[in-house]
This record gives sequence, structure tokens and C-alpha cells, in this order.
Amino acid sequence: MPPNGHMIVGHFRLDIGYSSPMTTPLLDIATWTAERATRRQPWQSPYLAMYASVWGGIVTDPALMLVPIDDHMVHRGDGVFDTCKCVGGSLYNLGAHLDRLEQSAAALHIKMPCDRDTLVGLIRDTVRAGGKPEASVRVLVSRGPGSFGCSPYDCPGPALYIMVTDLPPSFMDAHPQGATAAVSTIPAKPPFFAAVKNCNYLPNVLMKKESKDRKVDFVICLDASGFLAEGPTENIGIVGADGTLAFPTLDNILPGTTMLRVVALARELTARGDRPTNVVFRDITVDEAEAAAEMLIVGTTPNVTAVRQFNDRIFEHALEGPAYRKLSQALEADILTNSALHTAID
Ligand SMILES: Cc1ncc(COP(=O)(O)O)c(C=O)c1O
Repeated sequence: MPPNGHMIVGHFRLDIGYSSPMTTPLLDIATWTAERATRRQPWQSPYLAMYASVWGGIVTDPALMLVPIDDHMVHRGDGVFDTCKCVGGSLYNLGAHLDRLEQSAAALHIKMPCDRDTLVGLIRDTVRAGGKPEASVRVLVSRGPGSFGCSPYDCPGPALYIMVTDLPPSFMDAHPQGATAAVSTIPAKPPFFAAVKNCNYLPNVLMKKESKDRKVDFVICLDASGFLAEGPTENIGIVGADGTLAFPTLDNILPGTTMLRVVALARELTARGDRPTNVVFRDITVDEAEAAAEMLIVGTTPNVTAVRQFNDRIFEHALEGPAYRKLSQALEADILTNSALHTAID
């Protein structure tokens, strides 16, 4: 009998010396593997493959896609991540995503677990193990396992997780009529945390909940001065009557890889005398957004999405907006054909 006065019988722990028996099954590894962990859950169907440095390999069985509970990413949100997509067997704009991942890790003083070439090799292998040429790829760098304390010094080293899932359809493919948006009641994160893609996404979670509860596609938070900041996982921009495309200043938002790519593509269009006529980063008020000619939402999942309603303002011709049409086409072409931004998985 163990010294604490418990005896394990079958699946149950008998309490020796306690007046009432325990009723919760006590699982050993064989029972856990055979009966519990292998049970498939419906939400796992898009899960394709996972690499975990803590296990030293790739798994494709969702039952094995596990993170140790003492990894400080789990109980403190102490980690960073980035999400990119694989399109036609090629990772789009991977360099920009890994640059941002490294910047986020550096901001939290987390050492990258390996060099860039090794990381790219692990990402490639994990996507290949997933078996699909179209996929969403999450790369997480955590403080690593170490304790249940708060101190990062408890953890001997960082951990790397790469999760490959089915690529969801872009917003406009799933909602061809465009998006609805509204100002959020959740304030934007303080600038330092807004700029770091860290694993504490609680304000973003609450914004997503708010959008579902209010039945709008996206809510947009305001910064401390009341200017438009961003959506839960996407950036926003407006187009003025003169054709100028404006995004919020980069101080209070995550510098989205899609937004920065859209800005580059917009500048090429402007240089050719096309729409948009100009591109700027500046403070944007809610009134300005409501009075804009067009409003756009951009991100890795939504690509370029046209907003058809913002608060009470209806954008009647959102889908015909010249900036929306030009930029969504330009980004789509970039994603499909810009070989300079593609990393083949083969
Ligand atoms: C808070 C936030 N803003 C903006 C974005 C858009 O960034 P990207 O275009 O790199 O997907 C994201 C992406 O997840 C995000 O989480």
C-alpha cells in the first residue's frame, strides 16, 4: 500500500482510512491509452500533423497531439506563435511570419529553440506529414516545461510546437456578400503586448466572443485614444473619398503580414496610376471609418475582405469598391504566383 493510504484496484483508487470511497477513476497508462485518449472528438477532424520538440518528432494521430501541462505556455500564456498558410504545396510569405515570430520571442526574452534553417526544415516535414498541399500552419515557441510557478527561470529551455490543420476557406469565399463589423467594447491591448504575438490572447478571445454574441462578423477594438486598432485576429483599413488607403499607425496593433503585403501591393498600384491613389498609416477615428468610401479587413485567413456594414453605416457597393477589387485580386495573385514569397515543402 502506498504511504498516503491509497490502494489502486482496477481503475479505482481505494481510500484507506477515509470514510467515503473515491468515485473518480484513477487511470494508469494502459487504461488511458486504450479507453480515453484514443477517443476521437468531432473538432479534431481538421488536425493533420503536429511536431513537438518535447517529444522529438511528428505525430498525425490527434490523440498524440499533446503539450505538457507544466509548459509555461499552458498555465502562464508564456509563449509566442505565428500562423501562415501552405497553398498548392508552398508556404506563402513564410519569411515574414518567421521574422515576426523571432521578434515576438525576442520581446519576451525567449530564445529560439533552433536556427532558421532547422525551423524551416521542421515546418516543411510537418506539413508534408499532414499530407495536404493546402494547410494552415501554426508555429508556437514556448518558455518550455519547468514548473507551475511564474518564473521563466524555472524552465531549462524553450519548446517548439508546429501544428498543421486544414486550411479554412477565405472569408469572402465563405461569405461572398462581404462582412459586417462593429466597434468592440473590449479595449485594445497596451502597445507592447499588441505588437507581440504572444500566447495570451484573452482580449482577442473576448472580442471573438463579442462578435458571435452580437452576430457581427468582426468587432474592432479602439486604442487608448479612441482610434481604431484591429480585429481579434485581423487588421483593418479604410479608403477615403479621394482613394487614399489608410491603416492605423503601427504603434497599437500587430503588424499583420497580410496588411504589410497589401500595403506593398497598393503602392505598386498607386505607382501605376491605379487605385488606391495613396497609402498611409495614421490615426483613424470611428467617425472617419463610418464616413469612408470603403472599409477592408485583411489577414492570413480573411485575405482582403470587403466590409458591407460598419456600426450603422451600410456600404451599399462594398463589392464594387475599386480598392477592394484591385487589392483582393493583387493579393490573390501574389499568394498563387509570387515565387519570391514561396517556400516549397518538397
Ligand atoms: C491581433 C492580430 N492582428 C492582426 C493579425 C493579422 O496578421 P496576419 O496578416 O499576419 O495574419 C492577426 C493574425 O492572427 C492577429 O492575431
